[in-house]
This record gives sequence, C-alpha cells and structure tokens, in this order.
Amino acid sequence: METKELNGPVSDRRSFFKKAAAVVIGGIAGLVPALAGLMVWLDPLRHKAAAGSAVKVTTLDALPADGIPRKFPVLADRTDAWNKYLHVPVGAVYLRRTTGDKVEALNVVCPHAGCFVDFRGDSGQFHCPCHNSTFALDGGIANPSSPAPRGLDSLQAEVRNGEVWVAFQNFKAGQKEKVPTA
Ligand code: FES
Repeated sequence: METKELNGPVSDRRSFFKKAAAVVIGGIAGLVPALAGLMVWLDPLRHKAAAGSAVKVTTLDALPADGIPRKFPVLADRTDAWNKYLHVPVGAVYLRRTTGDKVEALNVVCPHAGCFVDFRGDSGQFHCPCHNSTFALDGGIANPSSPAPRGLDSLQAEVRNGEVWVAFQNFKAGQKEKVPTA
C-alpha cells in the first residue's frame, strides 16, 4: 500500500512526459509537410504564366502575305509569389500568312536539343545551326538524316480583329513525342 502511494506521482510524471513527447513528435511530423508546402508555394519559379494561353504576337498588317515565315518575339505576363511582370519575353515564333488570311505558327526552338532555327530564303527551309537539321515550310523534317526526332512544333494561331494571337507553348526536346514543358 505504501509502495503504491510512493510510486503514484512517479508513474504520473512518466505518463505526462510520454504524452508530451507524443504531442511534440506528432507536431513535428505534421509540421514538415506543411513547411515543404509553404516553400513550394513561396518559390517564385513555380508561379509562371499559364503555358499554352493565347497571347497577342503581332498584327496581320505586320505580316506580309507572301507566304514567307517571319520571326516574332512572344511576350507574356508572368507572376511570382510577390510580383507581376508585364510583357516579359518567353520565346519566339515563326509566323506565316497563308491564303485566306490564315496564319500558321511554329516555335523557333529546334526539337533536337533546343537551339533556335533560322529560315533560309534561298532554300525555303528552316535550318538549325547546331547540328544541321532542316525543316520544311510546314515544320516537317526536310532531310531524313536530320538528327531532330520530330518536326518543328506547330502552335495554334488565330486572327482576331486584325491581331495575330498564338497559344504559345514550349515542348520537351530530344524526343519523338510532342510533350509540353511544365
Ligand atoms: S539542336 Fe537543332 S539539330 Fe541539334
């Protein structure tokens, strides 16, 4: 009986410390994913302009109706966790005006390893200066020995009230499939 009375407070203290330790460990375990989520949310690189959303690139008047591709920069608004940046360069496109005032758009990035391609008026083809891939006017591979695994990436383009809008998107290089980058 005496022993029980003597051990009682010690046993209560042990129980208290066990519970306190469980609360602390549980709290830490819950805090780790919460902190990781907060860091991801605060990371400015994770807050980019929505890829593939349409942006105004130029006007139809600025694009000659001769069927020859012209290169245009693509500017878009970007936001991070703290700021919004207006008209930031995000890439470039070749635009070509075809019959009926339609416009075709190709991303300027070579799908082999990401260099920018040039358009050569003498051959009427796109040429990549890095490893000599060549592409036809429609973006298809012109020379079968080109190392590019696919043709140039076409983009949706449309004319709205005399303005040319393009759904701009980059795609992963080095693979046959056209897979959008994040
Ligand atoms: S990057 Fe264009 S051919 Fe290699």
